[in-house]
Amino acid sequence: MRTITTLSFAVLALASLGGFSQESAAPQVVAQTPPMGWNSWNYFAGKVTDKDIRDSADQIVSTGMKDAGYIYVNIDDTWEGERDASGVLHANSKFPDMKALADYVHSKGLKIGIYSSPGPKTCAGFEGSLGHEEQDAQLYARWGIDYLKYDLCSFIPSIMEKQAPNDKAAQMRLMIAAYDKMGKALKATGRPIVYSLCQYGWDAVWEWAPSIGGNLWRTTGDISPHWDRIYAIVSQQSGLESYAGPSHWNDPDMLEVGNGKLSLAENRAHFSMWAMLAAPLLAGNDLPNMKPEIKAILTNRDVIAIDQDALGRQGVRAYSDGEVEVWTRQLSGGASAIAVVNAGSDRYATHPFHLNLAKLGLHGTQSGKDLWTGKPITLADNQPLELASHDVLLVRIDAPK
Ligand code: GAL
Repeated sequence: MRTITTLSFAVLALASLGGFSQESAAPQVVAQTPPMGWNSWNYFAGKVTDKDIRDSADQIVSTGMKDAGYIYVNIDDTWEGERDASGVLHANSKFPDMKALADYVHSKGLKIGIYSSPGPKTCAGFEGSLGHEEQDAQLYARWGIDYLKYDLCSFIPSIMEKQAPNDKAAQMRLMIAAYDKMGKALKATGRPIVYSLCQYGWDAVWEWAPSIGGNLWRTTGDISPHWDRIYAIVSQQSGLESYAGPSHWNDPDMLEVGNGKLSLAENRAHFSMWAMLAAPLLAGNDLPNMKPEIKAILTNRDVIAIDQDALGRQGVRAYSDGEVEVWTRQLSGGASAIAVVNAGSDRYATHPFHLNLAKLGLHGTQSGKDLWTGKPITLADNQPLELASHDVLLVRIDAPK
């Protein structure tokens, strides 16, 4: 009797974790740490093809990115074709065989992601999922998809503004219902599929996304490969830290590391801050032509370890002094990370920034590791720090005092 009770309790507990995958009896837990991988949009945008996805998967393996933790290879917008008479969506001619592509990505030990919209059309004007949510979720599961980014786009004019023209609150309720619908459809497939909400942070998405099955949610509008945009997004994350944790993450958007004209310092600072924020690390660069210094940034294991820390606690902005900001992140085992960012360009050696350890709750000199030089570093109270414009000092302290 006792055994039976214990067993049924165990089964109930497992079931409440979110069901079982079709392939095994393991409970469905995804995104325990922020998802890592690559997404086609930031570099390829509408030009992405089946070959680009395969080449990128190959590169993720050969560059060592896979070993560093990058697992998801995500196809963004513009893969969609037409629906047939039964409403089944087909990929367009750029993606001749989605199942074969998924099998290829899986054969590399990677996972594959896809993109859709709750509206009739995606942002790029391709077929969306409106009215076909269950059918599309089942299709993704049949193809072997592991990750869905669901982008609001045309749902705004087609549904929200049409059905509730002058009522913002009613519009938001329609939006939440649409995300809930796809969340349930994904869950009903029985396949573990990471659910990524992309609705630009509307209606405090961080407050309701986890309850409808969201594993991550964009907190802002789109990123671009420009320092001002990247730092504006960083600033908008302050205050959202309590909403992040295992299986549910704030998403400040995909990485621009290696894109546009970002300087090395900017690439480093961008990557450092995404790690401090426990942000999903979805690279978005041209992998076959990645420069060694960009690969070095994206595969810095120490920085990735900050992002992927098991405690899952997002970093906080501790204080700022003009355009120099100090962020801290609590890590497992009592460790902590400190990032000092010079977000501006008007600070010179004549008046360097002085680090105030007391403001970080630290007492006296601290020993740590500078995660970009890889060398030990000592931080003393009131220590002057000269940081180049848009550069970062990222330090891990294993035993903070
Ligand atoms: C935007 C989204 C981008 C990208 C694009 C595709 O709404 O924020 O990340 O997915 O749509 O059309």
